[in-house]
Amino acid sequence: MSLEAAKTLLKSRLGLSFEGHWEHLLRRAIERRQAATRATGASAHLDYLARLALDAEELDALTSLLTINETYFYREPEHLRLLTDHLAPELRRNRPPGRPVRILCVGCATGEEPYSIRMALRERWGEQSDRDFAISGADLDREALAAARRGHYRPLAFRALDPALRARWFTANPEGDWRLADSIRGSVEFLQLNLLATPYPDELQGQDLIFYRNLSIYFDAPTRQLVMARLSDLLQPAGYLILGVAETLANDFGFLTLREQGGVWFFAKQPAAPAPGPKTTPPRRKPPIRVRPAVAEAAARSRIGDREAGSGSRLPTSRTSPSLTRSPVPSPAQRYQEALTLTQAERYTAALEILAPLCATPEVDPAHLTLRAQILYAQGDLDVAAETARQVLVADPWALEALVLLGRISRAQGDLDAAVEHLRRAIYQQPDHWPAHGELAECRRAAGQDEAARREYGIALRLLAAGPEVLAQAGPLPPALTWMDLRQLYQARLARLGHLN
Ligand SMILES: C[S@@+](CC[C@H](N)C(=O)[O-])C[C@H]1O[C@@H](n2cnc3c(N)ncnc32)[C@H](O)[C@@H]1O
Repeated sequence: MSLEAAKTLLKSRLGLSFEGHWEHLLRRAIERRQAATRATGASAHLDYLARLALDAEELDALTSLLTINETYFYREPEHLRLLTDHLAPELRRNRPPGRPVRILCVGCATGEEPYSIRMALRERWGEQSDRDFAISGADLDREALAAARRGHYRPLAFRALDPALRARWFTANPEGDWRLADSIRGSVEFLQLNLLATPYPDELQGQDLIFYRNLSIYFDAPTRQLVMARLSDLLQPAGYLILGVAETLANDFGFLTLREQGGVWFFAKQPAAPAPGPKTTPPRRKPPIRVRPAVAEAAARSRIGDREAGSGSRLPTSRTSPSLTRSPVPSPAQRYQEALTLTQAERYTAALEILAPLCATPEVDPAHLTLRAQILYAQGDLDVAAETARQVLVADPWALEALVLLGRISRAQGDLDAAVEHLRRAIYQQPDHWPAHGELAECRRAAGQDEAARREYGIALRLLAAGPEVLAQAGPLPPALTWMDLRQLYQARLARLGHLN
């Protein structure tokens, strides 16, 4: 089997595509598995690929290297509030006598998500909630599931968890990680499930609530549609489905009805009953907003605030939630502007807090998500910054700032091929973007590609020569270097590469 055939196999079996820079990830994973299985000899590579089609265990082992298991406790807490304040009380009230409410997390990775749900329910209803709610977590990745069952977590898993909750439900291990309380660990079931495999196990039928968060971003539109159809079938007639905040609208294929509660969007199997009183406008069904490069550029400056204020908010919350429109909360434009100002002042935590409600809506403006990614990057949270930037690319695969940021992050993580791929796309999108050229020059230099590095430094310097005002292209983060220093740095780099500009 060829690499292309392996890619087709992985796409059809797992729904994951390994085109572009992802191919690099696939090649590396195959090399690691080949080494682990001690495949040697001239035909080792082809033999290994052929084995994949026949050996389910080997396919599982490779899958573990290919999946992105990024997750943490109390991620997107607005969904937990939606659960405990609204959905769970309703489902609990309406369930048939003696039957627990069934909650399923698909793509649960290492378990933080279903365990967070259990903790939130325990906090609300105590141990009675274990009898009232049955929680299962499902994932494709066997190794992630084994870690979920083990229930030991590194400090990064607690980045969004209230320390009081950590103290209540975890015990510190001498090794530096934290062990989840057995009573929580034993109250969640885990199973392996490939969302693309058919049919789903019978025992999964009849869910009251499905969490399907931060996974669809890795699927293309036909795969997302297929998965939504199948998950809808698993739901009880009065069931609900929750996607990640930035993914909801991109999964609105009409199988389920989009609903909103306090600014949080989710899907219901039942169409909403007509509300008494004046009619409200239902949310429009449209794909996520595409950002043209000029708009993305404008987002880095404050003009976008005026654009939003002038044209009225595109956020569904302000259209459909009268309580929000009446309350004296800042408008999205004001919030975004304030987040920008805080970012420029390096007050990153405060900026993220201000930005949070803007990113917690299915019609999230990619500019808001981009700013969030940039702040996370500035805070050094590279994995989550990259994941957020990739969410921007779901809405607009050519979003300039997200591409440049992913280039930077990939370089920082030592993945020069991926960095180059993102930066070349950015330059294709906007050929006169000096930060993309400067960053690409750094990648080329690091890769020992002197000629290409010289060319890129030269272009970056020519673009910078337009004057200090072009520094604004670098985005909202405070510049590490002044315009003068930056030019001197690039000139010095060029000189070292044997070329005086
Ligand atoms: C980024 S994690 C999301 C974790 C969690 N849902 C959250 O929001 O924090 C995505 C998970 O989806 C899983 N996954 C990828 N493809 C899958 C598939 N075809 N079927 C089931 N799970 C899949 C991966 O193994 C990974 O653990």
